[in-house]
Amino acid sequence: MWFCWIDMKPAEEQIRFRRLRTDELTPDEVRALRALLESAFGSDDEERFAEDDWQHAIGGLHFVVDIGGEIVAHASVVERELHVDGRPLRTGYVEAVATAPEHQGKGLGSGVMREVHAYVQDCFELGALATGSHGFYERLGWLSWRGASSVRTATGTRPTPDEDGCILVLLTPSSPPLDLTAPISCEWRPGDVW
Ligand SMILES: CC(C)(COP(=O)(O)OP(=O)(O)OC[C@H]1O[C@@H](n2cnc3c(N)ncnc32)[C@H](O)[C@@H]1OP(=O)(O)O)[C@@H](O)C(=O)NCCC(=O)NCCS
Repeated sequence: MWFCWIDMKPAEEQIRFRRLRTDELTPDEVRALRALLESAFGSDDEERFAEDDWQHAIGGLHFVVDIGGEIVAHASVVERELHVDGRPLRTGYVEAVATAPEHQGKGLGSGVMREVHAYVQDCFELGALATGSHGFYERLGWLSWRGASSVRTATGTRPTPDEDGCILVLLTPSSPPLDLTAPISCEWRPGDVW
C-alpha cells in the first residue's frame, strides 16, 4: 500500500490519498466505497452503479481519498488489452471515478485523476476509459478516440456504435504512434464492455 498526507490540518480534516490493491481493502472500506459509488452515480437506471460496474472496478489498483478517515473519492485502474487497428496495447483502464456528492467541486476528483495519470503513465502503453463526462477528463489531458469502437468476442468482433465518441485515451511514454481515428476494440466482459 502507498499513501501520502497532503496537508497538516487536524486529524479529522486531513486529506489522505492512498493506492491499494483490491485485496488490501478491508470489508469496511469496500462497503464505504460501494456506498460512495452508489450515491455519486445516483439512482437513474442509465447511470446507476450496478454490481457489474463494481466487478469491472476490482482486481487492479484503487486510488482512494479520505478526509479524517471518511472515504470521499475513488478511481480504480484495471489492466485490459485494447487493440488499435489490430495492434494489442497493454492498457490501464479507469473505472469507478467518483467523489461523494457533498465533497464535489473541491478538486478531489481531479486529485484522484492526477494520481491515476501518474500510475498509467508509469505502467501502461495506454490509458483508457469510457464516459459521458468528457470535459472533466479532457482538461486533465485525456483525448477523445474518434475511430469506430468494437468488442472482441468468442464468435468474432462486434461493433459497439453506442460507445463511439465516449472512449477517451491517455497517451503514455510507451505508447506507439497512434491514429486517434483508427478502429479500437476491447475484450468482452459481462455488463458494459467499455
Ligand atoms: C465527475 C466527478 C468525479 C468530479 O469530481 P469532483 O471532485 O467534483 O471534481 P473536481 O472538484 O476536481 O472538479 C474539477 C472540475 O471538473 C468539472 N467537472 C466536474 N464534473 C464534471 C463533469 N461531469 N463534466 C465536465 N466537467 C466536470 C468541475 O466543474 C470543475 O471545474 P472547475 O475546476 O473549472 O471548477 C464527480 O462529479 C462525480 O462523482 N460525479 C458522479 C459520478 C461520475 O459521473 N463519474 C465520472 C463518470 S465516468
